[in-house]
Amino acid sequence: MNKLWIIVIAGLLALFAVGGVAGHKMTKTDAFCSSCHAYHKASWDHGMHPEVGCLDCHTGGFWRDKTQGARKVWLVFTGQMDPHHDQLASYPDKTMANCIGCHMNEEVATVAPYYIERHSEYLQAAPHCIGCHEPGHVKSILSERNVAVRQ
Ligand code: HEC
Ligand code: HEC
Ligand code: HEC
Ligand code: HEC
Repeated sequence: MNKLWIIVIAGLLALFAVGGVAGHKMTKTDAFCSSCHAYHKASWDHGMHPEVGCLDCHTGGFWRDKTQGARKVWLVFTGQMDPHHDQLASYPDKTMANCIGCHMNEEVATVAPYYIERHSEYLQAAPHCIGCHEPGHVKSILSERNVAVRQ
């Protein structure tokens, strides 16, 4: 009897683990993000980074992604938010660490020390990369969305 329970529980745990891994893979894709963020997808397609995935810029680490992701799915499915129409929060400071990870890592610093030097001055003039660059999303496409929001 005890053995049977152990087998049942082990089986359930294995199922959850497989479901978890599949769920994790699915929720990491650009297609998943785009299912709620169509304007961001369009503005990203036409930007400078179509080959860089949504999460490469927007990750805040595994646990933050999972908890924030679950929260967003909850908000949408309980009808509290519509990501296609509601104004979304923006956290350029959180995104910046990921810009730096690709564009100001040690490899870049070795190849182009002047670029890094100039940028430490630039960053005193503007607090975030996106004060001067528009790399993730083409702003005109995003503002179409904001017009749609206001109407
Ligand atoms: C089920 C719909 C849904 C999916 C799928 C979804 N989002 Fe969101 N997203 C939302 C909602 C709703 C908000 C607004 C949340 C709020 O205001 O707290 C949001 C806000 C955001 C924001 C701005 C605020 C913040 O927390 O940084 C970013 C960036 C974002 N999503 C990126 C993504 C990425 C990247 C993915 C794919 C991994 C994704 N979203 C998948 C619904 C979704
Ligand atoms: C090269 C980096 C980069 C990529 C790739 C990228 N984004 Fe962004 N995204 C940004 C930056 C920078 C902002 C403005 C600051 C912020 O809110 O994080 C932003 C803002 C957002 C917002 C927040 C609200 C708003 O309207 O400003 C959402 C939602 C979002 N992106 C979704 C996506 C989705 C979905 C993808 C993939 C289809 C994606 N992003 C790809 C850099 C990127
Ligand atoms: C996953 C790595 C990655 C991330 C994260 C990333 N980028 Fe990029 N970025 C690239 C690649 C790859 C290119 C295209 C090849 C190139 O020109 O170096 C590029 C191109 C650029 C360019 C154009 C460079 C040129 O030569 O004209 C700018 C500006 C830029 N990124 C800024 C940013 C900013 C700002 C962020 C954060 C919002 C960011 N990137 C996030 C990889 C990344
Ligand atoms: C005050 C404005 C300003 C800010 C803030 C700024 N940049 Fe730049 N960036 C520039 C200018 C101007 C250039 C072109 C001349 C140069 O390379 O100095 C440039 C060039 C670049 C390039 C292209 C380099 C190449 O290969 O030619 C990348 C990539 C880049 N910036 C990324 C970033 C990232 C990532 C951040 C945030 C950590 C950032 N920038 C913040 C003004 C800025």
